Amino acid sequence: MTLAEALAAARAALRREPQPDVAARALLSHALATTTAGLLAHRSDVLSVADRRAFDALVRRVADGEPLAYVVGHQPFLDFSVRVTPAVLIPRIETEGLAEWAIRFARLRAAAGPPIRRILDVGTGSGALAIALARACPEAAVTATDISDDALSVAADNARSLACTDRIAFLSADLWPPDPRAPFDLVVANLPYVGTDEHDDVGRSVLDHEPHGALFSGRDGLDLLRRFVPELPSRLAPGGAAALEIGWRQGETVVALAREAFPYAVVTLRHDVFDRPRLVTIEPPT
Ligand SMILES: C[S@@+](CC[C@H](N)C(=O)[O-])C[C@H]1O[C@@H](n2cnc3c(N)ncnc32)[C@H](O)[C@@H]1O
Repeated sequence: MTLAEALAAARAALRREPQPDVAARALLSHALATTTAGLLAHRSDVLSVADRRAFDALVRRVADGEPLAYVVGHQPFLDFSVRVTPAVLIPRIETEGLAEWAIRFARLRAAAGPPIRRILDVGTGSGALAIALARACPEAAVTATDISDDALSVAADNARSLACTDRIAFLSADLWPPDPRAPFDLVVANLPYVGTDEHDDVGRSVLDHEPHGALFSGRDGLDLLRRFVPELPSRLAPGGAAALEIGWRQGETVVALAREAFPYAVVTLRHDVFDRPRLVTIEPPT
């Protein structure tokens, strides 16, 4: 069987994936330790029996519901890629929107005055947001917290591979870093926001494979945000901003929490790439 034939068979087996073609190519390049461009160049080569077996086993795992990113061990995020294991949530494309907003805020601040010096990512998971911000804001020191030590070890590994180790301090913490006297210019958080009441709405593959500590936050999903938002004013430096990813039904509640905590700030509910209200930003008044 040639590579092209193996890809065609895999596409059929992966028909329930959102992009069977992309998944088939990702799995074959993983099995052969090559790039997708490398696959194209060798489409008519014949697969060895061992490679064919390895590829079939990977295809079966994904067809059986294991997320593609865990099977290949990495996930793209903006212009880089992070290693992912079942200890961390697979970073979503929606979260790239949060990163882009935060990067834009940091660039506008730098254009208007001194650049942002201190950034906090709460619930860092794979470290995707902390790394994106460290790469985009070279003058800033980034702190990233998570309650899961296993997640922190994946995040620290990612920072090492992306040459950001000296820019990010990873801390094991329940939401906040220990020293409340050192406020941040920019705080980002994609905390768990799924309600245990919504358990049945969550996809099987997510429920079976992604860490529940990264998904659920009390009955209505808001336990952590109800704890987090009221403390935010004491953690933000004057002129600082925050961006919080939320569930699509939580906008009204989180905006109200933010307005109560920051009566003079500009609080905005923003839409994600799928046009759902999924991001709350808090900015100083202009
Ligand atoms: C939805 S995931 C987000 C991961 C990553 N920031 C991203 O956007 O892909 C939430 C993360 O928050 C962490 N977390 C849950 N409860 C926490 C808490 N009380 N304090 C700090 N981190 C927490 C989880 O371990 C998980 O890594």
